[in-house]
Amino acid sequence: MINTGIAAKFAEKETPFYYYDMDVLAKTLEAAHVAAQKRGFHVHYALKANFNDAVLKAVQRIGFGADCVSGNEVKKAIECGFDPQNITFAGVGKSDKEISYALDHHIFAFNVESIQELEVINELASKHGVKANVALRINPNVDAHTHHYITTGLDENKFGIPNADLEKCASVLKKCDFIELVGLHFHVGSQITDMTVFKSLCVKVNEWKNWFEERGTQIRVLNVGGGLGIDYKNPDGNTIPDFEAYFDIFDRFLERKPNQEVHFELGRALVAQCGNLISRVLYVKNGVKKNFLVLDAGMTELMRPALYQAYHKIENISAAASDEPINYDVVGPICESSDCFGKEVPLPVSKRGDLIAIRSAGAYGEVMASRYNLREEIRFVYSDQL
Ligand SMILES: Cc1ncc(COP(=O)(O)O)c(C=O)c1O
Repeated sequence: MINTGIAAKFAEKETPFYYYDMDVLAKTLEAAHVAAQKRGFHVHYALKANFNDAVLKAVQRIGFGADCVSGNEVKKAIECGFDPQNITFAGVGKSDKEISYALDHHIFAFNVESIQELEVINELASKHGVKANVALRINPNVDAHTHHYITTGLDENKFGIPNADLEKCASVLKKCDFIELVGLHFHVGSQITDMTVFKSLCVKVNEWKNWFEERGTQIRVLNVGGGLGIDYKNPDGNTIPDFEAYFDIFDRFLERKPNQEVHFELGRALVAQCGNLISRVLYVKNGVKKNFLVLDAGMTELMRPALYQAYHKIENISAAASDEPINYDVVGPICESSDCFGKEVPLPVSKRGDLIAIRSAGAYGEVMASRYNLREEIRFVYSDQL
């Protein structure tokens, strides 16, 4: 629960806005940093989760690299001070313009998702007179057991090079004079809380690494992607994900030679719990079958519930806890029925003007905000500036 002292400081602020708890962010980053460093692992932060300036700066200061999925994310990371030699560029649809920009800035590696992309990068690298570092993204066909919209490593998904293409890919690589293969890349999905998924991933990574090595191709980097989930139900009791347990799986089950590096691309686990969407109750509609709380924030500020029925804990931070909570459907003002943050949410009796916190919204929140319905630009507040 966001404490009443902080809630009082929101009283004069225009809602809705994202509230970032910079202390939670710092502690989360530190925990991940310590656990990774202990095992000699490298972390690239997935900018797609949140590229708010202060959040990004905190990630950059701790020493993580950047994992980008567009030319603009590469640009943003460089502008924020990330060393290009610590930037990876992934994505199934990199444009020529984006590839050229990344080549000119000598990034650490492109995570390549198809044979055709490999050929295009080779051609562009030859034009730019540089060698492109590349990691092949292999689709390992591992089920992440998460929502189907955030599962990425199955044969039916658009991501990665299908296993059947890898023989051809290996021979195409030999002809690409402007490509340097640095490693293999995998990413099976997001919000994964079942650690056995990562164990299954390790088995596949070992298999593919051996496959390449048997063909005389040395693999320096094993990039196992991101995907570690967080506890949306209990953000206060379980604020910092168990990075020790997570990295430990890879430490135990990945077979690596002393010179082989293990890279991670964590997004959500690093930034989700530091962010909260704060909004006000505009109207209380007590219907025949339902009670609605209509907020001044909607799917335009936080799209996850509408996009993939995601759960976020919802709190009334103005009202005192009541013995007999009322169940409300908490909805936004957008003209879409999917604009709903939660159904039958037990809350204290709420009234117009009450402040509502939607918790664990630091990842895939602000970055997905849109101007649909010509909504205002999203605002944000940092805890250290309150
Ligand atoms: C290739 C890749 N790497 C990393 C991530 C970050 O995932 P997460 O935020 O679940 O750690 C994603 C997210 O979908 C991704 O597609």
